[in-house]
Amino acid sequence: MPSLIPLALLAGWATGDARIAKGREVYETGCALCHGANGKGNPDWESAIRPIDFSDCGTTAESSEHWQMIVARGGRWAGLASVMPAFGEAFTEEEISAVVAYIRTFCAEAAESPRPRRRVGRRADPTPSEAGHLASPRVRPLGFWRRRVLDRLVGCGPPLSDQPTERTRTIRWEDPLATAALGRGMSGLEFLEKIRRGEIPRPPIGVLMDFSMVELGDGRVTFALVPAEFHYNPIGVVHGGVAATLLDTCMGCSVHSKLPQGRAYTTLDIQVRYLRPLTRETGRVLCTAVAVHVGGKVASAEGRIVDEAGKLYATGTTSCLVFDIPTAPPPGAGR
Ligand code: HEC
Repeated sequence: MPSLIPLALLAGWATGDARIAKGREVYETGCALCHGANGKGNPDWESAIRPIDFSDCGTTAESSEHWQMIVARGGRWAGLASVMPAFGEAFTEEEISAVVAYIRTFCAEAAESPRPRRRVGRRADPTPSEAGHLASPRVRPLGFWRRRVLDRLVGCGPPLSDQPTERTRTIRWEDPLATAALGRGMSGLEFLEKIRRGEIPRPPIGVLMDFSMVELGDGRVTFALVPAEFHYNPIGVVHGGVAATLLDTCMGCSVHSKLPQGRAYTTLDIQVRYLRPLTRETGRVLCTAVAVHVGGKVASAEGRIVDEAGKLYATGTTSCLVFDIPTAPPPGAGR
């Protein structure tokens, strides 16, 4: 949309004016939906109160400092309509001063005129429905967190996506302490085999994260997980803790599978290397771990997460403390 970029802005860029560029970014994120990409007001924004035309030099008489205060504290602070939100929480002081500098570029003369400003009388605030829905195709899509803040401030921002945004997921699990008590009566391999066959319920963490054991041998375990939306972080990929949890579980189980009845383990540390991001598109991944060494006190194991095509996503190593089961199990023992 080059025709919408004011000449002054192009000049600013040419001289490497990063502040104006920053101000433009802030403007397109938080302001254009009401004030319009060109500063004249967004025609699609249906409101009883129209903001002033920033490209009309005659109406932009306020000092930049005063405008910064209005942007930070909202219209109501200056006796203007409260539909002009307070952005003090959404943007930093630097961003606010940059956006006001950017607004100045809409007026070709780009000067603070000494002319007295048109005084705005008291006006009724528009209702949220009057404030309307503001999806202008010229408005850049907002980042997730900004959108959240803006939704709260403006109360009428564009929806997060065209899809319904709220999802729910219900999980059920069984008493994990009952499971742990069962485990004390058998060898690690027998215990894990019963979990694999579903004779002993999956532990709650497996239900929560939705992974399960698919293969089990002496000192070698494979778990499967299908990366899903509920595993996501705010950056838009599966949270690193999911791979770490999967590796921790899988490596721990490979050690557990080597322990005779009466012996237990607890993780001392894990190290995880993330090689590729997991996403919904990745499909089912398998985590395979092998117990490298199980000694009298310490055990170590290593694991890898691969997709169905064998592509590697993460690797991990662990060391575990191995001990005789005390009368009351220590926290974190067994999985
Ligand atoms: C929800 C719509 C909306 C959003 C979003 C919005 N404004 Fe406003 N703004 C208004 C309205 C409406 C007015 C006029 C209020 C009045 O005149 O009573 C206004 C007034 C202003 C004024 C004062 C202008 C004057 O009359 O002196 C400034 C400066 C301003 N806005 C800057 C911004 C900046 C910068 C952003 C983004 C960070 C922003 N606005 C985002 C609606 C909005």
